[in-house]
Amino acid sequence: MQITDPTDSRRTSPSASPSTGPADGRSAARAATRPVWDAFIRLFHWLLVAAVTIGAVTGLVLGPTWLKLHLLAGTTAAALVLARIIWGYLGGRFARFEGFVEGPLKTLRHIAELRDNRAPRHVGHNPAGGWMILFLIAAILLLAVTGTIALGGIFKTGPLGYAISYDLGDRVNGLHNWLAWGLLGLIAFHVAGAIFESLRTRENLPLAMITGRKRVGRGDILPPARSAHPRRAALIMLGTAAAAALIGITLAGRAVPRLPVARLDPTYASECGDCHVPYNPSLMSSDRWRLLMNSLENHFGEDASLDDATRRQLTEWITAHAAETVDTKPAHVLAQADPANPISLTATPFWKKAHAAIPDSVFARKPIFARSNCTACHGDAETGMFYPANIKIPEETTK
Ligand code: HEC
Ligand code: HEC
Repeated sequence: MQITDPTDSRRTSPSASPSTGPADGRSAARAATRPVWDAFIRLFHWLLVAAVTIGAVTGLVLGPTWLKLHLLAGTTAAALVLARIIWGYLGGRFARFEGFVEGPLKTLRHIAELRDNRAPRHVGHNPAGGWMILFLIAAILLLAVTGTIALGGIFKTGPLGYAISYDLGDRVNGLHNWLAWGLLGLIAFHVAGAIFESLRTRENLPLAMITGRKRVGRGDILPPARSAHPRRAALIMLGTAAAAALIGITLAGRAVPRLPVARLDPTYASECGDCHVPYNPSLMSSDRWRLLMNSLENHFGEDASLDDATRRQLTEWITAHAAETVDTKPAHVLAQADPANPISLTATPFWKKAHAAIPDSVFARKPIFARSNCTACHGDAETGMFYPANIKIPEETTK
């Protein structure tokens, strides 16, 4: 519901010539300005711009090593949007959803009027802009939800770290990616809309989002000063919070996915950690480990043979904690072996792809020495988690 200035003449006389639109230059000069976007809205808007920009750059351009900053940006964006939703019910006349969310028919009419160059000027959001706000809010919330599910399923961390399978997390991550591009598309439309409306009404709308002030002229549409349904708004918010809490409790109560063995068997760590880092047993399937343990005499050109009892004992321990017993990302992505070299990790298609951008000279650096020296760059390699936030490529040391 919106009210208009009763002296509005333009809406009742659509025949007015297009050149004397709702905001021609002369009336602009005469019109007074008034505060429209309150401090919260402005701060929200520009912090959200920053958070979404960082989220998009870290997520779509920079890659997994920026995960921590990506999570910070995403969490910030989600928190901002949640605060905006509360403000959309409890805030002032220009902030309340009630004041700018119109039904589809009214919105289509506004668009038709825009096309015919006889649309009135809205001091707050116009109906098309109002829907854009809702779409942007929905996209960011969906990104937060899908991101949390993906984080829980793939990396076993975050609020859903113990409730989501890798496969589900991986699929939802695909959706998360599509939503990210969708959000960028919406933003492109939003910016185009702001530029279009700025030109149409001859008012710098991005600047108004900084100063908070906008011009008010004859015939301009203002949202109602008072909320018609303050109690309903509070109920909607309470209901949403209760539903979210219920869903959270249900998910958190689900089965805990098995994580890689926390502590390596001491015999394994000493026998198999002699020449290189002791690889976590969750990195290969039991079939491949058996193949490896049965060919220790010729182990990548070295003799790594063990006495029979130790070999049997270690084989038993490794296969009991092999890839098929856990649900981590490395256990899944390293599962596809190189048929020509099934007991190698660095020959797997995933490993080659993930490390393709790292030049040979980096692997040759003194503290790294070899591709197989995972621990040099992955701080948590021994745990089998390989969480991207724990990746740090060391510099060349001189000693
Ligand atoms: C005598 C030294 C030696 C011992 C002992 C040894 N390895 Fe190795 N291992 C090697 C060498 C050398 C490579 C090849 C490393 C490379 O390609 O950079 C290798 C590679 C591997 C790889 C593949 C890593 C990759 O690059 O993909 C695995 C897995 C592995 N070893 C497991 C084991 C296990 C399990 C044991 C204990 C039973 C063991 N190793 C004991 C020398 C050893
Ligand atoms: C020279 C440093 C270096 C070494 C050594 C190294 N990695 Fe990596 N690894 C990286 C970097 C950097 C990335 C992130 C690549 C990117 O940005 O996509 C990565 C990514 C990964 C990922 C994917 C992480 C994710 O969730 O996106 C896995 C799994 C992985 N490495 C496993 C290994 C294993 C197993 C070894 C040892 C056999 C190893 N890496 C050795 C630097 C290294």
